Amino acid sequence: MAAATDLLQGKRILLIVSGGIAACKTPDLVRRLREAGAAVRAVLTRAGAEFVTPLTLAALSEDKVHGELFSLTEESEMGHIRLSREADLVVVAPATADLLAKMAAGLADDLASTLLLATDKPVLVAPAMNVRMWQHAATQRNLARLAADGIAAVGPDEGPMACGEFGPGRMAEPAEILAAIAARLTAPAAGRLAGRRAIVTSGPTLEAIDPVRYIANRSSGKQGHAIAAALARLGAETVLVCGPTVLPDPAGVRTVRIESARDMLRAVEAALPADVAVCAAAVADWRVADAAEGKLKKDGSGQPPALRLVENPDILATLARHNRQRPRLVVGFAAETERVVEHAKAKRLRKGCDWIVANDVSPGTGVLGGECNTVHLVGEAGVEDWPAMSKTAVAERLALAIAERLERAGA
Ligand code: C5P
Repeated sequence: MAAATDLLQGKRILLIVSGGIAACKTPDLVRRLREAGAAVRAVLTRAGAEFVTPLTLAALSEDKVHGELFSLTEESEMGHIRLSREADLVVVAPATADLLAKMAAGLADDLASTLLLATDKPVLVAPAMNVRMWQHAATQRNLARLAADGIAAVGPDEGPMACGEFGPGRMAEPAEILAAIAARLTAPAAGRLAGRRAIVTSGPTLEAIDPVRYIANRSSGKQGHAIAAALARLGAETVLVCGPTVLPDPAGVRTVRIESARDMLRAVEAALPADVAVCAAAVADWRVADAAEGKLKKDGSGQPPALRLVENPDILATLARHNRQRPRLVVGFAAETERVVEHAKAKRLRKGCDWIVANDVSPGTGVLGGECNTVHLVGEAGVEDWPAMSKTAVAERLALAIAERLERAGA
């Protein structure tokens, strides 16, 4: 995206630069932010200063660069709390695995982490690290925690890395970070869904075979949880009905945890009425007709037991065809491995919902369980193809589209 002049006129960015090789791209980000009209105040961690000099950032931002928490001169000129308050957005670029871990844990042992704990402003992180560090369960757990805390992320991208490896972990390009900053700051978003009620389904369902075995699927719940968090951030009173996942409950959302499709339907119906329902759960299509009361045992005959399956209720179709309390906007998902849009269009009509968010989940896309998603929004008026972006960014864009649609509907 070109840095449209004055796109960010009058906006104040507190830019925290932590220590990774991607910090060499940060001066370019500062230059673009300045060109777009933003004021930039930079904070360098000790490790960050190994990759980019305070002088470079000071020259480009035309402001003093801050570094130490216990600096007498800095505290007397501007206390660290004030530094965190005098910003419209806090951006961490690059955000190292270490700083993300500190943020997730609420640690505050240097100026950067203290500011991040003290701020009441929205925070956007641009993670950058080695692919294995990115894929480590601890980093993914920290990111899920941060997403649940309402912290947005841009990137990382996939590609060759400075360490010689290949994969996700490269910091998003400065143009992409600038676009994410602009999206965050220019949308008059906050409060747009105030007074609205939203229901979101997320995660897999578990269908019992006997008391210890079940049928399930690979849904992580990341996309549905991110949507619930994004709707809540826009002010919607949000109920998240989710199957078993390892994700923490998103902040500001009432989370109802269930196991089976039938439990999910009951919880969703109990949460009605709602203005919007987003069904992102991967609901099991079938359940075992007569789940055994006791654990099934091998009977020595060599014959495995036959499981008879019956169809589960379709929660999306039930909501879309609800005769008393149909939400004004009903949104479904379609995970497909071929002819994605064509199948989604048919599904929209079959289910009776208003929109379908369709995505390609073929092996190799990394969507299932991964951080990124490439979706198509199939609606009454046509199809919008969205570029590849993080699941958090998909959630934010979808929440904004929902707000716009409900405003247009004028109710
Ligand atoms: O039928 P299919 O699984 O392809 O449709 C996907 C959409 O329908 C998703 O939005 C999913 O949450 C929803 N669904 C549902 N209840 C079911 C099956 C799917 O709500 N039993």
